[in-house]
Amino acid sequence: MTDTTFDTTTVTMTAEEMVALTKEHTFFSWSAQGAVNPIPMTRAKGVYFWDANGKRYFDLNSQLMCVNIGYGDERVIRAIQQQAETLAYAGPSMATQVRAELGRELASVTPDGLKKFFFVLGGAEANENAIRMARAVTGRQKIIARYRSYHGATAGAITLTGDQRRWANEPGIPGVIHIFDPYKYRSPLYREGDSDEVFVRKCLDQVEEVLMYEGPHTVAAIFIEPVTGTNGIIVPPDGYLQGLREICDRYGILLICDEVMTGLGRTGAWFAVDHWKVVPDIMTMAKGLTSAYLPLGAVAINRRVADYFENNVFYGGLTYSAHPMCLAAAVANLRVLKEDDLVGNSRRMGKVMGELLEDLKAEHPSVGDVRHIGLFGCIELVKNRKTKEPIAPYTGGGPEMTKLVAFLKEKGVYAFTWRNLLHTNPPLCVTEAELREVFEIINEALAIADEAVRD
Ligand SMILES: Cc1ncc(COP(=O)(O)O)c(C=O)c1O
Repeated sequence: MTDTTFDTTTVTMTAEEMVALTKEHTFFSWSAQGAVNPIPMTRAKGVYFWDANGKRYFDLNSQLMCVNIGYGDERVIRAIQQQAETLAYAGPSMATQVRAELGRELASVTPDGLKKFFFVLGGAEANENAIRMARAVTGRQKIIARYRSYHGATAGAITLTGDQRRWANEPGIPGVIHIFDPYKYRSPLYREGDSDEVFVRKCLDQVEEVLMYEGPHTVAAIFIEPVTGTNGIIVPPDGYLQGLREICDRYGILLICDEVMTGLGRTGAWFAVDHWKVVPDIMTMAKGLTSAYLPLGAVAINRRVADYFENNVFYGGLTYSAHPMCLAAAVANLRVLKEDDLVGNSRRMGKVMGELLEDLKAEHPSVGDVRHIGLFGCIELVKNRKTKEPIAPYTGGGPEMTKLVAFLKEKGVYAFTWRNLLHTNPPLCVTEAELREVFEIINEALAIADEAVRD
């Protein structure tokens, strides 16, 4: 027998070869294939990654807001290796020690009442199964979601999605209705000087109005990102989530919170709903659950949902549900989050990042608004602060944003921009010095946006 190792990590290709071969045979998400220009990424540690030319990048977006603990943590790597050596796979109908442990570990951080989990492979699948569960439990079909939202790219999840990623996928699944968001900066419901209480009341009245026309007895769930992610870090004013909870209770509607991006410390709490002490009926998560060391999502369910499925068959399943290696990554990831107090660090560094964002707003006329909670932040860029004309259209693009990203990349900062938004979502292990250094570069970069400002 020959001694063969299948090593894909020793870099044997040049950057150009890596990109050319990747583009020739593999297909990229959300892109016209001819337009993609990927970074040939080779290794990563902490808050940094390197390309095939040895250039270092600060990861200001934790890839897709998912590498929560940072890159290359030996504790997670070792857990994955050990699980692979012992039991790389067990079918979804098996009980395993790692499955038992993850259930217990996850239950130690989820809100009271959400202590049972269905394990899937990512955010979209988690949301897909949340829809399925809500419909089965309530016997109702309609789902109310919001316009400024993203919930994933599978059939149901992309129908829930309110943003333009839905358009090309329509018509989606039947029975999904969209409502407006508590987006103070642009909401026509908000009047300059209104208190949060007044604004929240107007938002909730609008929800009630939609329910009246739809028939609340036909609505299975209200499905929301508790803090909106890619659509602009919309932090709900105090009272909004509590109000939605109350409306749902009144009509027997399930409240489903998609914590795929906000969960596991991103907002400075274990889950975003914890900030307002609201407990949804179903809560979905993925990304930070393993910090993306391996793919995993979960649907957390309350007693009402769990009880229903005690005697009613759940008509759903996946070959890789509760995959031992992914679960091992999650157990280790949760322990790292706890051991290193990364949720606390997210809260503390979030405060620093919030101040840095507010400083940018004070200094740059192109900054219309900044929004942040924990290490979840974004800068909304405008051509004119009074009219709030966005620097790039709703459908994305625009020369200023392209130049801005190119500048940041050149300076070794990997950032996520979309439409007129520049996101700031670093790994939760970031230090104050690292934050200050990267914000210096953002400060320089915003001169590009300022040039587009006009009266
Ligand atoms: C809030 C939210 N929900 C769901 C998803 C979909 O997750 P996945 O890409 O793992 O399917 C995402 C992904 O960005 C997300 O941000």
